[in-house]
Amino acid sequence: MTLANRPPMGWNSWNYGLNERNRADFSRITEQSMLAQAQAMVDTGMLAAGYEYFVLDDGYQNARRDWQGRLQGHALRFRHGIPQLVEDVKALGLKFGIYSVPGTLTCAQQYDDYVAGDLGSLNHEQIDAQAFAEWGIDFVKYDWCRAHLNDGLDPEVAFKKMADELRATGRDIVYSISEYGFWKPHEWAPKFTNMWRTTDDLFADWDSLLRTLDLQEPLYPYSRPGAWNDPDMLQVGNGSLTSAENRAHFFLWAVLNAPLMAGNDLIRMTDEVRDLLIHPGIIEIDQDWSGEQGKLTWRDGDLQVWSKQMSEAAGSGVAAVLLNRGETNARFNIEQAVGSFSTAKDVWSGDLVDASSSVEVEPHGAVLLRLS
Ligand code: GLA
Repeated sequence: MTLANRPPMGWNSWNYGLNERNRADFSRITEQSMLAQAQAMVDTGMLAAGYEYFVLDDGYQNARRDWQGRLQGHALRFRHGIPQLVEDVKALGLKFGIYSVPGTLTCAQQYDDYVAGDLGSLNHEQIDAQAFAEWGIDFVKYDWCRAHLNDGLDPEVAFKKMADELRATGRDIVYSISEYGFWKPHEWAPKFTNMWRTTDDLFADWDSLLRTLDLQEPLYPYSRPGAWNDPDMLQVGNGSLTSAENRAHFFLWAVLNAPLMAGNDLIRMTDEVRDLLIHPGIIEIDQDWSGEQGKLTWRDGDLQVWSKQMSEAAGSGVAAVLLNRGETNARFNIEQAVGSFSTAKDVWSGDLVDASSSVEVEPHGAVLLRLS
C-alpha cells in the first residue's frame, strides 16, 4: 500500500495557535494544550472519522539543540520533551507529525519573532530525520520560509534532500512540503513528496478562501494517490467564517481531494462545526479516488460548480459543489450547471433533490450534491 494512498487527514497546531489578528501566540502551544487537543481528537469522534495525524507545527522548539545536535522542545512549554509527547499522543491511537524547515530560519523565527537559535534543518538533515524516526514520527511538514534568500537554497534540491534522509531511516513517514506554490511544485514534488502546498497561507476569512480556491483551478491534473495538491489546512471553525462559509470551505476541499488538516480548537468547537468535520458523506468524497481530483466544471458570474467523478466502489455518479460567491441568494439549474441525472441528494441535509429542477444557494454558501 502506498503511503498517503488517500488524502492525509489530521489536526495541526498552527491555525489553532493564531490569535484574532492572525499572529502566532506561542503561549497556546504547550504540552498540556497539545495533549488536550489530541485527547479531544479522540473524544469528539475526529479520530474515528479518519483524522489520524496529530501535527505539531512551528513554535515547539527550544532555542538550543541538545548535546547531540538534536532539536528539543521549548524548555518551559514542553517540560517532558517532545519524545514523551509523541509517546503520549500515540498512546491515544493517533499518529504524530512534526515541523521543520530546509534552511536556517523557521517561518516563526522569520515572521513571528520566535526564539533565535539553530532551529532549521540545514546541515542537520540527517540528524533531524533520524531523531524523528527514533521518536516514532509518522509525518513531517517541511516548510520553505525564504530559504532561497536566507541560505541560497534551491527548492527542489533542498526538499529532495530531506526526502532522501527520511527514506534512509526506513520508517514510513508522510512527507508534506510547503513552498506556497511559488516554484511550480506540482511539476516536481509528486516524485518524492506526498503533498505540496499550492498556495500561500489560507486565513479564516471569505476573501482568503476565494483567492486560494481560484489558484487551484489549473492544478487538478497533478494530484494522485500518494501525491496530493495541498490547498492548505482547514480553517473550518476559525476566525470570521460563518456557518455557510465553513460548509462551502469544507465541501470544496472534499471535492478537491485535499488533505484535511483541521486547525480549530477541538475542545471548544460547536456541535455544528464538529458535525461538519466528521460528516461521513463529505469525508467519503474527499477520500474517494476515481482517477482525477475535482475541478471547476461550470461558471456563470459569481456562481460556480466544482465537481468530481466518484468511483464505482463509492457508488459512482458525481459529487458537485454549487458555490455562490456572491452577496445575494442564487438559483442553480441542475441540468444546466451540472448535467442530466435521475437522482440528486443534498449531502449535508440528506434531502433528496429533484435533479431536473433548481436549487437555491445562500450568499457565501454552497450546496453539495451527490448525483447519479
Ligand atoms: C508558514 C506556513 C504555515 C505555518 C507557518 C509556521 O507560514 O505556511 O502553514 O507552518 O509557516 O511558522
